[in-house]
Amino acid sequence: MKQSDQVRASLDKQPHEVASMFDGVAQRYDITNTVISAGQDRYWRWATRRALALRPGERVLDLAAGTGVSTVELGKSGAWCVATDFSQGMLAAGRFRQVPMVAGDAMALPFADDSFDAVTISFGLRNVADIDVALREMLRVTKPGGRLVVSEFSTPVFAPFRTVYMEYLMKALPRVARAVSSNPDAYVYLAESIRAWPNQRRLARRIADAGWGSVQWRDLTGGVVALHRAYKLA
Ligand SMILES: C[S@@+](CC[C@H](N)C(=O)[O-])C[C@H]1O[C@@H](n2cnc3c(N)ncnc32)[C@H](O)[C@@H]1O
Repeated sequence: MKQSDQVRASLDKQPHEVASMFDGVAQRYDITNTVISAGQDRYWRWATRRALALRPGERVLDLAAGTGVSTVELGKSGAWCVATDFSQGMLAAGRFRQVPMVAGDAMALPFADDSFDAVTISFGLRNVADIDVALREMLRVTKPGGRLVVSEFSTPVFAPFRTVYMEYLMKALPRVARAVSSNPDAYVYLAESIRAWPNQRRLARRIADAGWGSVQWRDLTGGVVALHRAYKLA
């Protein structure tokens, strides 16, 4: 039997497996991210904050916030940002950050209807078992006229770069993770889940089908990451 800190989720994303996997990588999560993304993670977080166009005093939900590393970046706007995640280990690893944290499942959010000016999820939606349910839950807790930004790995648009990137994902990334992470198998899951994830256009369609309006996206790092932006119709 595997030890609890060596769980890796399968692509059906059973919630207990996903939560255990993140519990197991929590302590070295932030540093592993920076290493495997060659420092790009900081740029992606900055771009997410910019895309949200937050104003001081607004209420923001950072869903699947993990250790709160994404929440801290959002807080630089002066908005009030709450981190929510279902991995107790990730939340505990980020407790030193002193951002408000609420344990909760993206598919059944512990918040009232129309609670937030903006809702965002960074590198989280891909790990949720039913993304359509999660997108509808995010819509429910957003105020009319409020906005959504999904920051997620996506599909590089330039074919030769895409080929090189896929090689990195499937071959080099697990090797790099072996040197840095407490659970390298979790990074094999990362590579597989990115490969199976819908491209920019397909994800935009899923977001619109969940009821969000004016869905648009912007590629970062040539499409390694895409920011999808949408609004709750007033
Ligand atoms: C890759 S981490 C992203 C953390 C952070 N947002 C960041 O940008 O680094 C993905 C997070 O999604 C969380 N997650 C996955 N499914 C979830 C769900 N159904 N409800 C809440 N959190 C979930 C995991 O526990 C994990 O902390």
